[in-house]
Amino acid sequence: MREIEEIGNVEKYYEVLDMVGDGGQGDLFLGRDRRTGEKVALKLQKTRDLGPESFFHSAGRHLLEEGSRMMVLTEIQAIPEIIATGTHRGRRCLVMEFVEGRQLQNALLAARPVKDPGTVASVIGQLCEILQNVHDLNLVHCDLKPENVIVQPDGRLRLIDMGHAVTAGERTSCERGTRGWASPEQSDECPSGLTRQADIFGLGCILLEMTVMRLPYGGLEERAEPGGPVLPPDRLAMLPPEFASLALWMVRWEAKERPAGVRDVFDQLRPYLPRLGSRRPSKRLRPDPTEYYRTHPPRL
Ligand SMILES: Nc1ncnc2c1ncn2[C@@H]1O[C@H](COP(=O)(O)OP(=O)(O)O)[C@@H](O)[C@H]1O
Ligand SMILES: [Mg+2]
Repeated sequence: MREIEEIGNVEKYYEVLDMVGDGGQGDLFLGRDRRTGEKVALKLQKTRDLGPESFFHSAGRHLLEEGSRMMVLTEIQAIPEIIATGTHRGRRCLVMEFVEGRQLQNALLAARPVKDPGTVASVIGQLCEILQNVHDLNLVHCDLKPENVIVQPDGRLRLIDMGHAVTAGERTSCERGTRGWASPEQSDECPSGLTRQADIFGLGCILLEMTVMRLPYGGLEERAEPGGPVLPPDRLAMLPPEFASLALWMVRWEAKERPAGVRDVFDQLRPYLPRLGSRRPSKRLRPDPTEYYRTHPPRL
């Protein structure tokens, strides 16, 4: 595997422009390559004044590890290409491909609850195709949520934010992912390691958020306990019949009771995928994820 290129001060090669995104781990800036004029995305470590000095140092290390993980994923087109790492005013920085489009989070906020089966199948189906590639490399993304998905203007989905990704089956020593979206086995250290079933749980959460606007097991509000209800009765009744049993299967509390892989999920979605050349749905997300299957055959 190639190592990530270290370029020192990023301003030597890149102009740092506006801040365009903000996550838990980093600030996202738009940048421009001074040599080619091309746009890039610059993911900068959070500023030093947000916590103790030791936090700042470990955050820099984590960002560098994220960059190395992206090098492993470099063959996967749906994940932004990593270009280099460097520093900007003392903060660690990753330079990567800039993805045009809209966060899935924002596209959904304007359209939930999503009822059109073709739209639901197009979002979850595209994510299955991407995750199959990630899982084939023995990695688990661990932070699936609509904030970490970008819908390009042509309806293609891109998966971002490798900040929590781990090697499957390798011991983890602390909580991973985002509360509410993360699987129960991610809420603490996991001596036997996380598996692809953790990502299937996160994908199930996206399916629930789209269709019934609720996360399972009380989501962010309550600390869930095993055996508790997955959804309150009114939300359970809102689940579209096409996807109800699939969604509940994906978010089973026990990892081994979930689908074994994303292909099993995809097989359940297949009958609802938009056909090649079919018309776009009347009520659609913007940008529209069905466009992908209306113009490309499924890859799983
Ligand atoms: N390569 C990229 N191109 C365009 N926008 C991006 C890119 N990477 C991240 N973003 C935007 O910045 C936000 C924060 O980036 P992310 O990698 O998720 O950081 P964090 O680890 O802090 O959550 C994302 O939700 C997205 O809106
Ligand atoms: Mg993020």
